[in-house]
Amino acid sequence: MHRKTLKVVVTAGPTREFLDPVRFLSNPSTGKMGFAVAAEAARRGHEVVLVAGPVSLPTPKGVRRVDVVSARDMMRETALAAAVADALVATAAVADWRPARCAKAKLKKRDMKPVLRLARNPDVLKSVKCPLKVGFAAETGGDFVAEAARKCREKKLEFVVANDVTEKGSGFGTDTNRVAFVFHDGRVERLPLMPKAGVARRIVREIEKATVLRRGVGRRDALP
Ligand code: CTP
Repeated sequence: MHRKTLKVVVTAGPTREFLDPVRFLSNPSTGKMGFAVAAEAARRGHEVVLVAGPVSLPTPKGVRRVDVVSARDMMRETALAAAVADALVATAAVADWRPARCAKAKLKKRDMKPVLRLARNPDVLKSVKCPLKVGFAAETGGDFVAEAARKCREKKLEFVVANDVTEKGSGFGTDTNRVAFVFHDGRVERLPLMPKAGVARRIVREIEKATVLRRGVGRRDALP
């Protein structure tokens, strides 16, 4: 079967939200899942832009990498790349909040208050326009499939890759993941524990399938 070459944008890694030149808010994301998706999409012959927060991973072969630091940087670069893309896969652990102001010089502890004022960051996946969007849902227990279904609806996604990051072998820094695919039409597919490269393969295949099925059907993000 003839496969169309797709333009795919992947976000990966954490973001850093500085409160002064030497301190920031962030999270333990290592970028492994996003880099695996970018590597697999490139291996399948697609054109890939990888918008990466601060991580220490080598750039996968055949991938164009754009390094960013904050959520607002990630928002800007992802919107630029997604404007001409077929699909966006958001694996990044974007900080939802940033310090309301960032001091120009290092804050002295004697001048700091024990309360930090925060401002909301943009939701990259929700705001960026792209014909087909895939999200991740990292949950810590609870009904993670129901949460993923909510995110799928609210962010108008094709599907969400959901996982419980507290489960052994899943989540931040691991080389494996146990995930469930939660599709916009209500289908749920639970996968066994597998290497992140295996999860990446499934994601890229699902995107290829969805773009073939959808050709001529129109843009999901243009739907009400
Ligand atoms: N995401 C994003 N920009 C944000 C927050 C999240 O692009 N500011 C993307 C993530 O890359 C992921 C998806 O949205 O693909 C879900 O992220 P998650 O943190 O699980 O969910 P939130 O939307 O932040 O919802 P909540 O805090 O209610 O769990």
